[in-house]
Amino acid sequence: IQRDSRFAQVTPEHVKFFKEVLGSESAVIDGVTSDAADDIAPFNSDWMNKYRGHCRLVLKPGTTAEVSKILKYCNDNMLAVVPQGGNTGLVGGSVPVFDEIVINMSRMNKIIEFDEVSGILVAEAGTILEVADQFLASKGYIFPLDLGAKGSCHIGGNLATNAGGLRLLRYGSLHGTTLGIEAVLADGTVVDDLCKLRKNNTGYDLKQLFIGAEGTIGIITKVSIQCPQRSAAQNVALFGIESYELAQQAFREAKGQLGEILSAFELMDEGSQALVRQVTGNKSPLEEKYPFYCLIETSGSNAEHDAEKLQSFLEDVMEKGIVADGTLAENETQIRSLWTWREGITEALGHLGGVYKYDVSIPLKELYQMVEDVKARVDAAGLLGDTDEYPVRAVVGYGHMGDANLHLNVSTRRFDERVEQVLEPFVYEWIAERQGSISAEHGLGLMKKKYIGYSRNPTMVGLMKNIKTTFDPNGILNPYKYL
Ligand code: FAD
Ligand code: MLT
Ligand code: ZN
Repeated sequence: IQRDSRFAQVTPEHVKFFKEVLGSESAVIDGVTSDAADDIAPFNSDWMNKYRGHCRLVLKPGTTAEVSKILKYCNDNMLAVVPQGGNTGLVGGSVPVFDEIVINMSRMNKIIEFDEVSGILVAEAGTILEVADQFLASKGYIFPLDLGAKGSCHIGGNLATNAGGLRLLRYGSLHGTTLGIEAVLADGTVVDDLCKLRKNNTGYDLKQLFIGAEGTIGIITKVSIQCPQRSAAQNVALFGIESYELAQQAFREAKGQLGEILSAFELMDEGSQALVRQVTGNKSPLEEKYPFYCLIETSGSNAEHDAEKLQSFLEDVMEKGIVADGTLAENETQIRSLWTWREGITEALGHLGGVYKYDVSIPLKELYQMVEDVKARVDAAGLLGDTDEYPVRAVVGYGHMGDANLHLNVSTRRFDERVEQVLEPFVYEWIAERQGSISAEHGLGLMKKKYIGYSRNPTMVGLMKNIKTTFDPNGILNPYKYL
């Protein structure tokens, strides 16, 4: 892709304006009139070190009014921008492609109000997910979303990507739990839809468009969200399973026997666990190795009662030969430790070199087949091997099995064009043939922009383009991505 010549370059005069608007020195990282390369580098580079931008100006607004002034000015002067939250996104959406200005939301991190009866939280978009969750814990509530990047990602970023995470199975998608947002459009218009009502059927539900829009139609500045009561008891079990067929039976049984208390059902293959062992040096919680592992979490109101249920579930599935081995966490430390075998995969992969990540939805029956087929294809191309001469170290699969969401990851010793060519568009064609989705929860960003047609038909893409033009006629918001 080429830089869009309609966009202006940032000049010292522009910088002067932004400094006046934002007042505080620390709110502007200025690499235009000074040398700030080192300070700007982290904002130009994504979590995976796969995408790198060339921006020379980072703005950190502290209020909605400041966001509005910045965007109006950018729109009037044809300056392209990239909204940025915690910069943990995995599709290259959160960093510039060329010299777009980064609008980083980290200073807008206040919790505005919380209603202890209804469980409705209102907070600024730059609030870190874990901070929001800890605040809620002190009130007996839980944020209805949890994911491995919780210590860095923002709730505004979560909405912008429509993040799914580890407990979607229980608490549903952000499309259901978000009650309202405040957002700023490209021309500076503030859209105040910070509704605090569970029900509101007055007209089109415009906030839904911002959820999963990845910063292409506006910047989310505030969020109102329905939070569930925190469960008094949590239990976690990890199972070893001999085949994917049996993993599906285990899921069936878990829904039947644990129904109302089931809060997560996650899948990991042995390949993904081998990488975690390699990077952490930790010993596996089960004696033997199995082709598959499932992590099951329950959240309920009675610890003893829930543990009993999980124990008898484990006995039942072992008796029936569905599960080969299993372990139950007995305390908070063990719960956290079992979770690291699932949540730690992304981090472990990140340590080992370049990763090609495919976050996809596939009808459950064929979910894991994709990993087998991709592994065979990479192997047949002569790219997979144990020694340094092969670019690919491993092809692994894990994910939110309870939501039919697979994470296919190809772990490489270094990013390599040949690997990408073997994987794409093969992976997307494979998914389209099965009516899956090429983007389950991470979004499109830069990575999947050109592949949207594999999961959305031309009529829908056309409507989406109309929406983009309505909200951002000059196209200054997160250009080169998404559509
Ligand atoms: P960023 O990465 O900063 O931005 C993501 C996108 O949103 C960009 O397009 C950006 O322009 C836009 N954006 C950010 N803030 C705003 C805003 N205020 N207004 C408008 N647009 C905005 N994702 C899942 O769905 N499930 C998981 O289980 C999961 N686990 C992860 C684990 C790890 C270790 C990592 C590194 C990532 C994981 N992710 C997961 C991906 C990522 O964390 C999520 O997509 C997260 O929601 C991104 O939030 P962020 O604040 O970091 O956004
Ligand atoms: C996860 O479920 O671990 C995340 O979505 C991140 C990843 O896909 O690696
Ligand atoms: Zn995930």
